[in-house]
Amino acid sequence: MTDKKISEVSLLNFSAIGDQRGKLISLESSKNIPFNIERVYYLFDTIKGAERGFHAHIDLQQIAICISGSCTMDVESIKGKTSYTLNTPNKGLFMRGLVWREIKNFSDGCVLMVLADAHYTEDDYIRKYSSFKQFLTKLVSQTETGKQ
Ligand code: TYD
Repeated sequence: MTDKKISEVSLLNFSAIGDQRGKLISLESSKNIPFNIERVYYLFDTIKGAERGFHAHIDLQQIAICISGSCTMDVESIKGKTSYTLNTPNKGLFMRGLVWREIKNFSDGCVLMVLADAHYTEDDYIRKYSSFKQFLTKLVSQTETGKQ
């Protein structure tokens, strides 16, 4: 397995450049973003109570940044389940490898921006939780036998 496939979920801190007018954050590939940005998309105008995600990716690296409002991101990986509250443009949730994600509790005016290291392709999605669990079981046994 390549390094890219080793599961990782972590919060990255982005330093803001501030002056009397306000703040600015710059995101640059291979500087404060640990991959080459090939795609940016954002979720906005989310209906109250809506939940999104409910999938994992096979090969994609992503960073989710809540640039306005707040939401929660529930993730599950080989390291277990964790819930993150995203409510500041100063932090980004980095995800790579096999990670199931569920995005919930969107506030009014929430804008969730996502940076990705590849163009959109449906082929990279695992949309069935049971399939994700099968992949995870395989990954656990590979890790235990030292193949990861
Ligand atoms: P999806 O990834 O299922 O959204 P979410 O996980 O937030 O619920 O994408 C919703 C739709 O948008 C789906 O038909 C695929 C399409 N889509 C693109 O065309 N390009 C993209 O970059 C993304 C992320 C989705």
